[in-house]
Amino acid sequence: MSFTLHPVNDVHRSDDGDLVGLAEIAELAGVSRTVVANWRARDPRFPRPMVELRAGPVFNRDVAARYLRRRNRHMAHVVSTINLKGGVGKTTTTVGLAEVLSADFGKKVLVIDLDPQTNATTVLIGEDRWRELNGAGHTLVSLFTDALRRDDEPARFDLNSTLQRKVSAVTDVQTVDLLPSSLDLIDVQDRLAGMPSGRFYSNNPTDLLRRAVRPLLDNYDYVLVDCPPNLGIVTLNGLRISDGYIIPTIPDVLSTYGIPQIQTRVRAFADSLGETIHELGIVITKFREASKVHHATLRRLVDDENLPPVFDTRIPEGNAIAASAEFSTTSTLRQKYSYQGGYEAFRELAKEFISQVEDIA
Ligand SMILES: Nc1ncnc2c1ncn2[C@@H]1O[C@H](COP(=O)(O)OP(=O)(O)O)[C@@H](O)[C@H]1O
Ligand SMILES: [Mg+2]
Repeated sequence: MSFTLHPVNDVHRSDDGDLVGLAEIAELAGVSRTVVANWRARDPRFPRPMVELRAGPVFNRDVAARYLRRRNRHMAHVVSTINLKGGVGKTTTTVGLAEVLSADFGKKVLVIDLDPQTNATTVLIGEDRWRELNGAGHTLVSLFTDALRRDDEPARFDLNSTLQRKVSAVTDVQTVDLLPSSLDLIDVQDRLAGMPSGRFYSNNPTDLLRRAVRPLLDNYDYVLVDCPPNLGIVTLNGLRISDGYIIPTIPDVLSTYGIPQIQTRVRAFADSLGETIHELGIVITKFREASKVHHATLRRLVDDENLPPVFDTRIPEGNAIAASAEFSTTSTLRQKYSYQGGYEAFRELAKEFISQVEDIA
């Protein structure tokens, strides 16, 4: 086989117009070349090149155009919330963002609770409803236990009855849905880790969530995944569907300690998939304006170029935010997160978050 090695632009200008490179695809789509390179890196539907030239890959124009038409259909932005430490505001940040994205920015949001602590679940639907769902097996735990069942046992997970629609006790929040967690996930996490390798192969344990929620994801603008404070198999399931992740942290030594490990591990996982999982940024939580330690740690985080960027917006420590962990009805987010800066902080954070996430899309 032999190819004539034109630079891509010449190929594009050739009479038949049948071949295009990344630059032409970018032009067709009206986006930058970097964006197209990102699609190519992350989107399994991206067409395969007919040939790789030194100038770059070359695609069939029709195939590329068909891909772009398909791509124009809506795609969700999926973001995981991770920190190896508990109590640093992961759940508060996930739920706060979800509610503000919905009520103030008109976004449709799915919260996926992967933490056995089930805090996001109980904040959004209350303990009573969680207990009912858990009793009926309508939590994400069923998805994972199905992977562990014997071949003669029936599958239990049912996406439709597990999906909780229009959750949140805030009246203004009308477009947040939830896939609830269960305390039983702790046990399942250990059993998944012990799955024999033969079963691993046929039933990839980090791909369970992706396969289950695939039909659902693109109904949403944003999907926020609240991960447990470790990098085990359940967290990897969250990362598997994520375009990026955020790291909420209290600006103190212990809470920020594990950030480099998270970066290394997530990069290795993304590399193993041949994809990019973007480091969207560190979110400063429970910030105390009067604390020297908080200011010093914040400076260190901002100055360290190896760490992910730090969001400008800091979530202040506040009683109303602490109380927001309870499932009790309020009509507005301002009432839930207080008039003393809590609500404004989440709204500002959401603005930054949207621009960060849409940047990588
Ligand atoms: N900005 C804040 N001000 C005051 N309390 C907060 C704030 N953020 C979180 N909390 C409280 O701290 C505790 C841990 O927060 P949470 O979001 O559950 O952390 P994680 O999910 O990382 O374990 C909860 O009781 C929560 O209500
Ligand atoms: Mg939590």
